Amino acid sequence: MLGVPDPLHLRLIERHRGNELCEVAHSYRDRRVADPLPIAVLVSGTGTNLQALLDTVHGSEARVVAVASSVDGARALERAAEHGIPTEVFARDSYGDRAARDAALADWLSERGARLVVLAGYMELLGEPFLSRFPRAVINVHPSLLPAFPGLGAIEQALAYGVKVFGVTVHFVDAGVDSGSVILQRAVELPDAREPDEVLAALRPLEHELLPRAVALFACGALDADPENPRRTIVDRQAISAGEG
Ligand code: GRF
Repeated sequence: MLGVPDPLHLRLIERHRGNELCEVAHSYRDRRVADPLPIAVLVSGTGTNLQALLDTVHGSEARVVAVASSVDGARALERAAEHGIPTEVFARDSYGDRAARDAALADWLSERGARLVVLAGYMELLGEPFLSRFPRAVINVHPSLLPAFPGLGAIEQALAYGVKVFGVTVHFVDAGVDSGSVILQRAVELPDAREPDEVLAALRPLEHELLPRAVALFACGALDADPENPRRTIVDRQAISAGEG
């Protein structure tokens, strides 16, 4: 006899577009899904977080369809080109003002079909007109436990404050500085740290794990605003493999 369908179960299957897609696993290798989410990555520098995305979710939960840089000659652009991904430079100086730059950038990303914009070391602020083109679909990785130490030099700020616990935050982007809703966070205790490079070395692996995981969760439709507190992002635990998160 058929049981009564469980509405929660049905909802999860629908939003995950099949179980296979959304078992956000430790290893993304060898995963192929029918309908990867087209994402764009914005960069300004070396692009190790871009590389982490290319090595994990690219070709499985997501497909990087565009990489835009605020800086000409950024190493990240080479990483994209090595994967045959279209790249473009949107330097502020090349446009009349930030709004014009943002509009051109949004147009280019839209033309490439991006449905999620990932800031991976992007050193520019994005205004409300840009964000409204990708509502609740712009995310950023930041090397501190927000709301502590937003903005530039987060690791230096934390060292100057004398904290013992450092960390990484992946969050939705709003028009403020690193002030959007938190998606994932991870902490690491470094009670004796004194040098930024030492902290950075400890945070890198966390960034490279959390950012792809957040992208995969987004692609699975596993991130929701809490109706009781829209600042809070609810992560659908059923989309995360046992032992993770
Ligand atoms: C990372 O530390 C990230 O947290 C910050 O900028 C840095 C980018 O590094 N937003 P990379 O270019 O991805 O190597």
